[in-house]
Amino acid sequence: MMERITVHYPHMNRSVTLLYSTSTGHTEFVIDAVIGALGKEMKDLRIIKQRAEVSKPEDLKKADLLLLACGSWNTGNIEGQLQPYMEDLLHVRSSDIDLKGKPSAAIGLGDDRYHFTARAAEKLTDYLTSHGATLLLPTLKIINEPFDQTKKIELWTKEFIAAIDKLPTKSRE
Ligand SMILES: Cc1cc2nc3c(=O)[nH]c(=O)nc-3n(C[C@H](O)[C@H](O)[C@H](O)COP(=O)(O)O)c2cc1C
Repeated sequence: MMERITVHYPHMNRSVTLLYSTSTGHTEFVIDAVIGALGKEMKDLRIIKQRAEVSKPEDLKKADLLLLACGSWNTGNIEGQLQPYMEDLLHVRSSDIDLKGKPSAAIGLGDDRYHFTARAAEKLTDYLTSHGATLLLPTLKIINEPFDQTKKIELWTKEFIAAIDKLPTKSRE
């Protein structure tokens, strides 16, 4: 009799798209720190790093996991908005997409010299939840320069990994 064996490959074939925009490089620094920590722990995870200005609505939809990140900006002369490239991708070009429960997370940056400090964190979270994504963990907020905040970024990435680990595994028979 043929024995049926199910082998679980938790991260096999799974991809995460890190979609970000940046003006001074702060968000890219954070994203690279996340990628470093993810790559160390999840060897089989396919990591796609992509800037918002070259992304299409389909890029938001096609990844297994989605991470959005950007700084806060005075887009349209109003403080506390998304960085302009992210604003354009999410609210102009991808305003009507359905993320259908996609496991997602967000990182918002800002500066405490502004009254609406790091409001990008809330704006990204609102976009994900209002477009049907499943938020895997509370959004990471990075206030002021990120360069001495790597510990905080790594701790958050550990939580992100733990949440990914809890997702139903893909199985092969
Ligand atoms: C024109 C301009 C507007 C900004 N507006 C805000 C704001 O409204 N709220 C805030 O917390 N930070 C604001 N910031 C600070 C940036 O969000 C912060 O420096 C962030 O780390 C930049 O990330 P990035 O270089 O990846 O775009 C602003 C910065 C600039 C230059």
